[in-house]
Amino acid sequence: MAMRLEEDRFLLGVCYYPEQWNETMWDDDFRRMREMNFSVVRMAEFAWSIFEPEEGSFRFGLFDRAMDAAHRHGLKVILGTPTATPPAWLTAKYPEVLNVTFEGVVLQHGLRRHYNYSSPKYRELCSRITREMALHYKDHPAVIGWQIDNEFNCEISEFYSEADHLAFRSWLQEKYGSLDRLNEAWGAVFWNQTYSGWEQVHLTRPTPSPRQPNPHQLLDEKRFISDNAISFAKVQADILRELAPKQFVTTNGLFGHLDSHRMTDELLDFFSYDSYPQFSTITEREQEESPLLDRSWSLNLSAVRSISPNFCVMEQQSGPGGWVNRMDMPSPKPGQMRLWTYQSIAHGADMLLYFRWRTAVFGNEIYWHGINDYHNRPNRRVREAAQVGEELSRVGKRFLGSRFQAEIAIVRDYENEWDGEYDVWHGPFGWESGTAWFKALTRRHLPSDVLYLRETTRLDDLRRYRMLVYPHPAIMRRETAELLEQYVAEGGVVIFGCRTGYKDERGHCYMEPFPGKAAKLCGISVEEFTMVKGTRAPTFLTWNGDPGSRIPALRFNDVLAVESDTAEVMAVYASDYYAGKPAVTRNRFGAGEAWYYGAVFHEQAAARIIELLGLRSPANGWMKLPESVELAIRGSAEANGNDSDGRPGAPATAFLLNYEEKPAKLTFLRPTEELLSGQVLQGEVELEGFGVLLLRSPEDGE
Ligand code: GLA
Ligand code: GLA
Repeated sequence: MAMRLEEDRFLLGVCYYPEQWNETMWDDDFRRMREMNFSVVRMAEFAWSIFEPEEGSFRFGLFDRAMDAAHRHGLKVILGTPTATPPAWLTAKYPEVLNVTFEGVVLQHGLRRHYNYSSPKYRELCSRITREMALHYKDHPAVIGWQIDNEFNCEISEFYSEADHLAFRSWLQEKYGSLDRLNEAWGAVFWNQTYSGWEQVHLTRPTPSPRQPNPHQLLDEKRFISDNAISFAKVQADILRELAPKQFVTTNGLFGHLDSHRMTDELLDFFSYDSYPQFSTITEREQEESPLLDRSWSLNLSAVRSISPNFCVMEQQSGPGGWVNRMDMPSPKPGQMRLWTYQSIAHGADMLLYFRWRTAVFGNEIYWHGINDYHNRPNRRVREAAQVGEELSRVGKRFLGSRFQAEIAIVRDYENEWDGEYDVWHGPFGWESGTAWFKALTRRHLPSDVLYLRETTRLDDLRRYRMLVYPHPAIMRRETAELLEQYVAEGGVVIFGCRTGYKDERGHCYMEPFPGKAAKLCGISVEEFTMVKGTRAPTFLTWNGDPGSRIPALRFNDVLAVESDTAEVMAVYASDYYAGKPAVTRNRFGAGEAWYYGAVFHEQAAARIIELLGLRSPANGWMKLPESVELAIRGSAEANGNDSDGRPGAPATAFLLNYEEKPAKLTFLRPTEELLSGQVLQGEVELEGFGVLLLRSPEDGE
């Protein structure tokens, strides 16, 4: 669905919690927001007990006053439905609404997101609070839209309450129709797991050996969790659509076991994301060789863009992030907050709110810093946000509705992600290879998208791209293989890695030579394969047999055999007993080509393929950029220069983002207007540390 905003300006704003502050502060807060050129606030997403202090009795006074004050200052409001935090009275009276862990521990009041999606009682009470709020605020002049709940599947993305077991059973009955079909899909004859009555069927449960359930059951469990979250959200979306049709409906966050694409297509006007680039400094990415750190967030933003080409950042990091006992992030240095803001916008954000206005003085998030400190006096983060506000008030409108331009997509799908969480024979490879490709592309200034292959994906969705990198799709449906064959036949390029194509959608292995469903497209078979770990010494491959081009053949080796005249060996293994056998192949298929890389990708391997394919950056012939600077271009939504509604497309803008603290040296080969300063850049130009340039792109006819 297209972004439905009546506003003709870039909406910049902040998350605000009137219930956490003395009412006497509100007016001053809103006044200062307006001074910073903020125009929107989100509120109420955790305030159920304020609205319904006891069951069935509703009070709107506090938020009426807060929203009226916001409105008086000219601010728009996005309202959250408060269902991520059920009141204490609710969970005490109806304990069946609580979530339960895999081990059977009931999760109690005291944090948030401790409810389950299945309890009919919880759905009923959520419907009622949503209905009451919608009725009360549907005509409020400040309200522009709604956020359903907060961050579905954050905190915990597994559900094992009694209600969940029952709901899973109905979901399976619907899916399989009979126990025979269920037994077959789950391979239940293996280890005597055959079910003879539906009451015996459950979500996965503790078994001997820690957490080793039936893999086919577990894959269905994840599909169920996703469907169940969407059906939970739908209850609220339907009410909001019915009662508040003029206001948009969205939800925020990107978390596990949830098909956010389907949820967005079916329920939302657009998707919203919470962008905290500092998370990249507390993950294992810190240990990677040449990590991208906060720049790696651009890959997450690309995944968000695959859901909604234009999206809202509902929470943008505005200071050091930390909870009391975990998550301890450094303070953004001067300029970094602004850089991250433009990173979000460069990747497709059409509205952005900082999290949060002022740091909380109590609760789990006293170290999750807002723009304002506890003391509430001017600080550098407030000044930096005000600078962004001033800039966007001048140029922000220009981006609205324009689309990130990419000719290359890194392909993913939910089935392989979910199956791969459990299956260590392919799961960990997907993330590693996707990241390696992203690094190789972004450092060469080749903008890329993420594309999720789904049952609804059509040839037209693929035709946008010159090349697709689909690293390790172990599960491959016949229909997916056929779609990719059509894309390649027309001239597209597809790149696969090891472990491609050998499982069906149930997670059973095809009784066919690997790469199973991708064999025809690749023109090869896999003669044999092995993990490369433990006592197995690292292995290598060489390109075109050139010993000087030796690179590691990481983690897993598919030893290939050419099966078609159109297939060509691009690299051979250079070590172990299969030295000399094909490691990388390229198959001409119709007008295009399909590559098979027998191992897990790393940056060097991706770089070599980029070189062999002769991919060129849009910066080519326009400017010379160092590796440390990211290039992103937003332009018209459609190839013909129009937006999807047929109107002339938005003007093209190129974003240059310097993630390093030290200045970057750029060379402009053509005079280029910088939009924030109005200056024309030519020849050598220095981009300050953490600096941003917004360029009028040469395609822009203005
Ligand atoms: C044991 C069991 C087999 C099989 C193998 C491999 O030997 O007896 O049934 O499970 O381990 O795991
Ligand atoms: C998420 C939530 C916010 C807040 C931040 C910081 O994005 O939506 O409520 O908790 O994380 O932890």
